[in-house]
Amino acid sequence: MVKAVYPGSFDPITNGHVYIAERAASLFDELVVAILVNLQKKATFTVDERSSMAREALIHLPNVKVKAFDGLLVDFMRQERSRAIIRGLRALSDFEYEFQLAQMNRELAPEIETLFIVTEARYSYLSSSVVKEVFSFGGAIQDMVPPGVYRRLREKFPRF
Ligand code: PNS
Repeated sequence: MVKAVYPGSFDPITNGHVYIAERAASLFDELVVAILVNLQKKATFTVDERSSMAREALIHLPNVKVKAFDGLLVDFMRQERSRAIIRGLRALSDFEYEFQLAQMNRELAPEIETLFIVTEARYSYLSSSVVKEVFSFGGAIQDMVPPGVYRRLREKFPRF
């Protein structure tokens, strides 16, 4: 059984994340979507909110589990007995950051591989922070996030 881990902040999960999870879930026996508990920047949603939004958005993928993790990703990988980190790539601008993360993780745990899945063009401009910003200024984001995320954004920012 080959298991992969798709880590991130998921603050909140977007349709772009869902796309990457769908692609990864079709390649591996099991996929763990791993939500980082302690973000250096303050998260908009608590880890419980982020986890339940992700679980709801990925309910159609039976081999996907959503878990929270704290500390080093490589420690979580070892705990999960997985050697494949999945990351999504949107544009060249993602590359530098992703390259640094992947190199650091390789330094820490050489047995673990980082694998990149390129997003579909229609999601290439999407990020959790852009979605939150557009929403906070009253922009339409219904087509960019799962329905449960849209509902929770409206609850959290009731102005719109
Ligand atoms: O969605 P993000 O914020 O780009 O995800 C970044 C994440 C969570 C994958 C990364 O910050 C991470 O793995 N953090 C855990 C701490 C760690 O292992 N750091 C060492 C690698 S630089």
